[in-house]
Amino acid sequence: MSRYAEVYAASQRDPEAFWAEAAQDVSWYKRWDKVFDPYAGQYGRWFPGAECNTAYNCLDRHVEKGRGGQKALIYDSPVTKSQRSYTYSELTLEVATLAGVLIDIGVKKGDRVIVYMPMIPEAVMAMLACARIGAVHSVVFGGFAATELATRLDDAKPVAILSASCGIEGARMVAYKPLLDKAIELAKHKPNACLVLQRPMLEAALTSGRDFDWAEAVKLAKANGRKAGCATVAATDPAYILYTSGTTGQPKGVVRDTGGHMVALKWTMKNLYGIEPGEVFWSASDVGWVVGHSYICYAPLLHGATTIVYEGKPVGTPDAGAFWRVIAEHNVSALFTAPTAFRAIKKEDPEGKLIGNYDLRGFRTLFLAGERADPETIKWAERHLGVPVIDHWWQTETGWAIAGNPVGLGMLPVKYGSPTVPMPGYTIDVLDDKGKPVAAGQTGTLGIKLPMPPGCLPTLWGNDARFRKSYVEDFSGYYSTSDAGYRDADGYVYVMARTDDVINVAGHRLSTGQMEEVVAQHKDVAESAVIGVADDMKGQLPAGFIVLNAGVTRDEREIEAEVVKLVRDVIGPVAAFKNVMVVKRLPKTRSGKVLRGTMRAIADGEPWLMPATIDDPAILEEIADTLKGRGMGSKASPSV
Ligand code: COA
Ligand code: AMP
Repeated sequence: MSRYAEVYAASQRDPEAFWAEAAQDVSWYKRWDKVFDPYAGQYGRWFPGAECNTAYNCLDRHVEKGRGGQKALIYDSPVTKSQRSYTYSELTLEVATLAGVLIDIGVKKGDRVIVYMPMIPEAVMAMLACARIGAVHSVVFGGFAATELATRLDDAKPVAILSASCGIEGARMVAYKPLLDKAIELAKHKPNACLVLQRPMLEAALTSGRDFDWAEAVKLAKANGRKAGCATVAATDPAYILYTSGTTGQPKGVVRDTGGHMVALKWTMKNLYGIEPGEVFWSASDVGWVVGHSYICYAPLLHGATTIVYEGKPVGTPDAGAFWRVIAEHNVSALFTAPTAFRAIKKEDPEGKLIGNYDLRGFRTLFLAGERADPETIKWAERHLGVPVIDHWWQTETGWAIAGNPVGLGMLPVKYGSPTVPMPGYTIDVLDDKGKPVAAGQTGTLGIKLPMPPGCLPTLWGNDARFRKSYVEDFSGYYSTSDAGYRDADGYVYVMARTDDVINVAGHRLSTGQMEEVVAQHKDVAESAVIGVADDMKGQLPAGFIVLNAGVTRDEREIEAEVVKLVRDVIGPVAAFKNVMVVKRLPKTRSGKVLRGTMRAIADGEPWLMPATIDDPAILEEIADTLKGRGMGSKASPSV
């Protein structure tokens, strides 16, 4: 029997009592004045008046309670053929020392620090060192280009940047330092200092007066016994900023607070993921994404579990058995990854033959998130791994699952295609265009009734107005997830599609609006439309349609290649923007709105209706023909 219904009902009946009890699992320097203040902030604030420190809760507290000798972090890097681990005592020393170095290079409480690093233990140390001194980190994913980094520099205005000389992407070496230098050159805001970790496979030239050698600084600090203690911060102080794609080129700076973040994440480890302190929890994501923040860095450590930093891919490092090797070698209890990783494995090893080479007896549960988990992928994983496969739904903004199947409370029956039920603290309604809840089975926008539970974003960095406009103004009394879906008669949630320009490519959230802005920078492009088309492996892939300026006679394929390169250079390889095609015209409504939805349906070969407001129906035929020429789409005519 699952305790879910009883626990969820308690969280609804008296949210303050529910979260005050959950907060007992966190150490506080000072208790809160109120559990929740509905008048503070944009929709209320959790734990105002309380004081705490996240790094203390992740590290020192466990050492004090006798967990010092247990592994806190395991680094497994097939791309460098190396492994290393840190106990809680060792990680505490590393973080306290790095925190001392940060203070010495001029970082103070409340200052922002950008972390632009590959998947190495120092990335987690950087995040925790910031938390230790009350600095606000902003981790930027390594797959973003210099321009994206520059945008974040100008918004967060960091005092310092922590980076590494290179990352390793399968067989490709990614030199980080030139990207970092370019970003600093492009940005108006300049950091005072950069701490650069030199990796032996590709060392970087350091800029005198600005760049410091990470290893040397840490070595010197250790020789001098230099360590920083844990600063006291308010529960409502920002712990970090994580930029995520919105509908324009300007990413949204999602703010995470300190106290509510710890309370929510700690609660999930036992109740949602079913993990006990001392067990190994592996999130095969990247610290640049929210999943990496919450479940590589913070939650496992808050819980006294062991986390894994994996520098590799699900396939190709060296093969589709990589995940099973890591699970077996490190005795992983639960793995959290994106469905796309499993689709990649399934493609390489359809029969799951490599699974048999490893002892997975200690492995209990697979968790999937980041994009819709298609039933075929779930069934394949269930069949070959013989463990429950749990889809759960969340966003950068929430920082933890909005809906899931709570393994620790007792699993509910799985319904394929559904991430199951709302987690405590979340009241989910399906809303019509006017913001009225609709009946079970009907599709609408998935809204979360305000206030959001602890751990969710209180606002956007330096931009309360954009927070209100993006999330709470469309539907009175609700946070709009910008996801469309429905709930069935049993209350199960189904998340079907985004309602905005955001697409999901290999579990990475990207903005087609932003890609259009970049494409428009090409001198020969008059106008463009970028849409997300279905892809068997990555879920979605961007496809760009460009109309050239009158009089352009250059080779169209050459222009297309330049546009592809432009997006890669400006946004980064992670955009996976490889599909672009010159068209004569874009289909529009009579009022000039590009019919992106209809184009997407044609590209995906789905049934589509001729829009009543279309300006010239013939253009859709042209688009269908172009797509056909590229081996995409199937229907050249409307179904009705
Ligand atoms: N630094 C630099 N470049 C990066 C990068 C990083 N950290 N991460 C990805 N890239 C590059 C890739 O090398 C690739 O470049 P290419 O065009 O030269 O091949 C490009 O960005 C696109 O990457 P991706 O879409 O991830 O494709 P892939 O073919 O490299 O890998 C998967 C496909 C499925 C194996 C991979 O996307 C994956 O493991 N996804 C899981 C996603 C995830 O963990 N999401 C977090 C939510 S749980
Ligand atoms: P991100 O902020 O990068 O984590 O992306 C969040 C978006 O990914 C959500 O708004 C959804 O569109 C999508 N998403 C995440 N998890 C799921 C899931 N389990 N099912 C369906 N969509 C999901």
